[in-house]
Amino acid sequence: MKNKVPIVDSQVPMPPKSRRSKKRSNLAKRRVKIRVKKRARVPGVSPLVKKYWLQRYDLFSKYDEGIQMDEEGWFSVTPEEIAVRHAERSGGGAIIDGFAGVGGNAIQFAKMCYHVVAIDIDPQKVELAFNNAKIYGVEDYVDFVVGDFVQLAPALKGDVVFLAPPWGGPSYKTIKNFTLDLLKPKDGYSMFQIAQTITPNIIMFLPRNVDLHQVEELSWLSSPPLCVEIEKNYVNGYFKGITVYFGAAFGQLELS
Ligand SMILES: C[S@@+](CC[C@H](N)C(=O)[O-])C[C@H]1O[C@@H](n2cnc3c(N)ncnc32)[C@H](O)[C@@H]1O
Repeated sequence: MKNKVPIVDSQVPMPPKSRRSKKRSNLAKRRVKIRVKKRARVPGVSPLVKKYWLQRYDLFSKYDEGIQMDEEGWFSVTPEEIAVRHAERSGGGAIIDGFAGVGGNAIQFAKMCYHVVAIDIDPQKVELAFNNAKIYGVEDYVDFVVGDFVQLAPALKGDVVFLAPPWGGPSYKTIKNFTLDLLKPKDGYSMFQIAQTITPNIIMFLPRNVDLHQVEELSWLSSPPLCVEIEKNYVNGYFKGITVYFGAAFGQLELS
């Protein structure tokens, strides 16, 4: 079956390189890598997160002002440029960030939304998110909650629900077709239905290799089917993830 929902890019990807310039840039990359290897021995940065530490200013532009992360936070935080994009498209009302992590999204929502509820099941994440929100001067605009989004959902009210659930760690990249049952803590269908009890306006941030037919199917869980828009997100020309906007608030494209 062909995917019917048009897919847009949130940033123009890098143009394809010629063979010669590819060769040159590979050489340059190797040189940079060697230089970086010498420089990147940073106390407190484990080999596992070094790759992400090198991208620290893409994750938080104010990184040097006191941003704090834990290991999971390093590889699961939404890069700032993408988080800004999510916030710009969030509608500016009351938003529930169901899987807030170290605050990458919640901070940007706080800059643009009337009210933000940031939930994470891990108390340490919530502490880190609070610290990071302070660095951006937005801590007073966010209600930080330690809890399980799945359990809390029936009691929540909001204009938009944002879902960036765990993708199962960096190994998600090795999967050819990332199906929605691989999401945590529940499969994508269940989490979508839980979010729908709050509002039909749902934003999901998903892996770049997610099964787009399944994503499209989610909109059919509602009657009439929800408007859906799929966006590819890039940072510095690298394809980082897919954002899906469901509901009237974002729907520019209707399923035929
Ligand atoms: C991909 S990270 C979110 C990253 C976040 N958007 C950011 O930019 O920092 C997913 C988060 O979901 C949290 N989590 C896992 N199960 C949860 C649950 N049942 N309820 C709430 N949070 C949960 C994890 O602790 C993790 O911090």
